[in-house]
Amino acid sequence: MQDNFKNKAQDWDSGDIRVNGAKAIANAIENEIELTQDMEILDFGVGTGLLGFSIAPKVKQVYGVDTSAKMLEKLEEKNSPQLAIKAYHQDIIQEPLEQQFDGLISSMTLHHVQDLDAFFHTIYKNIKQNGFIAIADLESEDGSFHSDNTGVHHFGFEEEALKEIVQKNGFKDIKIQNINTINKEHRNFGVFLLTAKK
Ligand SMILES: C[S@@+](CC[C@H](N)C(=O)[O-])C[C@H]1O[C@@H](n2cnc3c(N)ncnc32)[C@H](O)[C@@H]1O
Repeated sequence: MQDNFKNKAQDWDSGDIRVNGAKAIANAIENEIELTQDMEILDFGVGTGLLGFSIAPKVKQVYGVDTSAKMLEKLEEKNSPQLAIKAYHQDIIQEPLEQQFDGLISSMTLHHVQDLDAFFHTIYKNIKQNGFIAIADLESEDGSFHSDNTGVHHFGFEEEALKEIVQKNGFKDIKIQNINTINKEHRNFGVFLLTAKK
């Protein structure tokens, strides 16, 4: 499995932009979705767990999938019996999970997914009827968000084009809203939260 994050994992959690960005996404998800203690949630592209560990106390169990072994090693260092994520080193688009979840959350991972159609088609099967998806990522940008665009398949997303793909793959009640702005030295980048139901 290609691991574009092996050199980033060690210092991932020391980036303020990442930590604060994941907090903003967790807050936005909680505002938009009623999370309950009986829910099993999948964090797609869980990484070191910045989003997943924020959501974990609100639900029964957070599961995570990620294609980077190094990012998952950092996650495992933070796992504890009190606050744990069950994480799998798996590309679920190539090798789908059998399990169905009450919801899927994701932070800043969609732009790394080459085939969006295949992704939404796959995760539709992993969500229970009436379950939700809550996916946060960059609004359309000029390619200058990352200093190295290796593994970046989309320079953010156009709202209407993304909605169309999500709808085509069976989801309903699709909503996309701006939830954060990331201020970098050279410009600002909008972050959206997409929510939808099965
Ligand atoms: C920008 S990081 C975000 C990590 C974490 N969600 C956060 O907010 O800190 C993107 C993560 O997605 C993972 N990733 C990329 N493509 C993936 C795929 N097809 N399936 C699962 N994880 C993937 C990367 O390994 C990386 O850990």
